[in-house]
Amino acid sequence: MEMIEYVTSEQSHHIIKRTGMKGENLTKIGVCVIGSGRAGMIHARNFSRRVNRAQLVALADAHAETLQAAQKELEVETGYADYRDALADPRVDAVVVVTPTALHREVVLAAAKAGKHVLCEKPMAMDVRECDDMIAACGEAGVKLQIGFMRRYDESFMAARQRISAGEIGEVVLVKSLTHGPSVPQEWMYDIRKSNGPLAEVNSHDIDTLRWFADEEITEVYALGGNFRCPQAVERYPDFYDNVAMICRFADGRQGFIDGAVSVGYGYDSRAEIVGTRGIMFVGRREQDSVVGCSTDRGIAQPFVKSWRTLFTEAYVAEDQDFVDCIREDRDPRVRGLDGRMAVAVVNAGNRSIIERAPVNVETTAHKVHTGGRQ
Ligand SMILES: NC(=O)c1ccc[n+]([C@@H]2O[C@H](COP(=O)([O-])OP(=O)(O)OC[C@H]3O[C@@H](n4cnc5c(N)ncnc54)[C@H](O)[C@@H]3O)[C@@H](O)[C@H]2O)c1
Repeated sequence: MEMIEYVTSEQSHHIIKRTGMKGENLTKIGVCVIGSGRAGMIHARNFSRRVNRAQLVALADAHAETLQAAQKELEVETGYADYRDALADPRVDAVVVVTPTALHREVVLAAAKAGKHVLCEKPMAMDVRECDDMIAACGEAGVKLQIGFMRRYDESFMAARQRISAGEIGEVVLVKSLTHGPSVPQEWMYDIRKSNGPLAEVNSHDIDTLRWFADEEITEVYALGGNFRCPQAVERYPDFYDNVAMICRFADGRQGFIDGAVSVGYGYDSRAEIVGTRGIMFVGRREQDSVVGCSTDRGIAQPFVKSWRTLFTEAYVAEDQDFVDCIREDRDPRVRGLDGRMAVAVVNAGNRSIIERAPVNVETTAHKVHTGGRQ
């Protein structure tokens, strides 16, 4: 039998607390996904079908057709054209912010003010000041702020991290990470002042991987960028780069390297290599599946991973589940605002390095962060 108790709190107008026979908390966290585009729909589908103890209660998107299509697919009755209306909905306990990056700060600040817990997609924001505002707002409101670095929830990445921590390859000396995306960028990404370029949109994940595996901050970068595959962007966007190579120095002198590319066509490529004092570890899968064909025409052939959606399907589910569990158990997210902030700091330093053709120090100090040590 289920007991139902209505409780009020400063943050939620009414939480319906459900208790099972053994007194366990059966309350579902009401979730609204803000931004129903490519990444938003991954989260929305997860919250609709695969995340336990959560309910997708609403969707929000400024584009009417996108919103309607998402509502129809997921059979979600409530859709908001203006995300601020979603924040006023008392059934919404938490939001997933999956709008274009330039809007993350605005939406997260409003969500915190409305007392909603936040899972914000990477890159966290456009610069570190925006990140500091977001961390401060969530800290002051007492809501969770988790950042969408889902590789930290991928089984293989987690296993590698664990084995490295156990000393299998000695001390970590160098962390190399690459991400290559298959698609031609959308128009807004060509303007690196609007998008922060591939370093932000594609390589944020690699920056986080470097920090995570080295367990240290990146303090200096030297990046080279160039446009080799997107001739359509050369004239209007001379600063745009579709390929980037970035050397990183950690605070204690250890080394990192990031290789980024967009518009590669051949597939979605995401791999890491960690060099230690007594060995090396490789992480990342290239094969779409385990089928290997061999023909007289093509030789040995195996399809390459096509998309981040398929490569990290389970990592996104685990990330979304952990967000809900953090809220329910009132514990800190595994990937915090400060992790998002440090990746943004490295992105900004990398873009400066490309423009100035020189090594650049990473802005590591926070401007005004009142987190109570929790964000
Ligand atoms: N974790 C990952 O692997 C991953 C993958 C892809 C994208 N992302 C991130 O997710 C974010 C969105 O990227 P995307 O590729 O899904 O973009 P997208 O363009 O496919 O989707 C963005 C959606 O936001 C909507 N939107 C725009 N302004 C809005 C507003 N004011 N209120 C509500 N909705 C609004 C748009 O209509 C669109 O549907 C970006 O920050 C991106 O970097 C993360």
